[in-house]
Amino acid sequence: MKDKQFLMIPGPTPVPERALLAMAKHPPGHRSPEFSAIMQEVYRDLKWLFRTEEDVFVYTSSGTGAMEAAIFNLVNPGDKVLSLVMGNFSERWAKIARTRGAEVESINFDWGRAVDPAVLKQRLEQDVNREIKFVTLIHNETSTGVTNDLQALTAIIKEHGALSIVDGVTSVGAIPVKMDEWGIDVLVSGSQKGFMIPPGLAFLACSKKAWAVHEKCQNPSFYFNFVAYKKSVDENTTPYTPNVSLIAALKETLDMMKEEGLENIYGRHAKLACMVRNGVKRLGLKLFVEDDATGSNVITSICPPEGISVPDIRKTLNKDYDIVVANGQGKLKDRIFRIGHLGFVSERDVITALGALEESIKKLKPSFTAL
Ligand SMILES: Cc1ncc(COP(=O)(O)O)c(C=O)c1O
Repeated sequence: MKDKQFLMIPGPTPVPERALLAMAKHPPGHRSPEFSAIMQEVYRDLKWLFRTEEDVFVYTSSGTGAMEAAIFNLVNPGDKVLSLVMGNFSERWAKIARTRGAEVESINFDWGRAVDPAVLKQRLEQDVNREIKFVTLIHNETSTGVTNDLQALTAIIKEHGALSIVDGVTSVGAIPVKMDEWGIDVLVSGSQKGFMIPPGLAFLACSKKAWAVHEKCQNPSFYFNFVAYKKSVDENTTPYTPNVSLIAALKETLDMMKEEGLENIYGRHAKLACMVRNGVKRLGLKLFVEDDATGSNVITSICPPEGISVPDIRKTLNKDYDIVVANGQGKLKDRIFRIGHLGFVSERDVITALGALEESIKKLKPSFTAL
């Protein structure tokens, strides 16, 4: 049916009406007092969401822009970067750091499993001369549906003394992330995820320790420059023309988040994930992430049943039920499909998706029976 399509991919995520209406208004001038008033609130509320006393920069880019901003404002060519890789997005850090000319060492973990803190600890303990300057890692690996124990990992990095550079693109605003309390040095995120607005904004906050490292960075990024963005936060503006309509929408969704409350948001995502995992198991399908304790609260990866292909499941869900789910990425393409339950998602949406999944499978394989 027309106009009924529902995105259950891990971003872009569904957008609430309040945000859509804000975007439908005439865009304000980006140097106007009206827009500065919006920026002031947005900057304040982003600190609340990131759970930090530090400033949160707002970039007009997708999430990868903030990842690039982190590397190109901190890392010098030749610096040693340790990259913890367990999927497509955690691997992106290593690629960006190599582009910067860093000496990158990756520790690879099986896709579908979390980073083992003991392995990180052992590697950092071997680094007696403190050559490793940065450790890049991801909180929620969207390509596999695994959430790392970020608190444990950042504690280990802190003890060593390297800077932790964390991808929180699909965790901020959905899964607990406590930037200051956990000692995260750099935390980045993107708008089309837990923020409940369309793609186009990226966010970055950095600790005082990271700021001191930035001051020694040779040839830092121009467009994403930390100093320019910090000055702009102080003046309730942005250095260049931002996506004003998206920022107006963000103000609305940040208000919505405050009304719901952070703990309730985290609880809702935990409940939705539990419903999806249990529903999938009840259908007799296999979850790609075997350990529920590391299974993500925002995305669930599912192996297709015997004899049915991932493209057929996705096509049937889309064509017959107006529900879009994601394919696997990279080496997992067509091996898993992923149901996103991130952002503006309710229990009703999840129940509908599970029902539609069961019906789709029955259509594709009439002999199929749920457990
Ligand atoms: C965990 C994670 N990191 C980074 C990105 C990249 O963000 P973008 O596509 O907005 O550049 C994504 C996008 O899905 C993601 O899920």
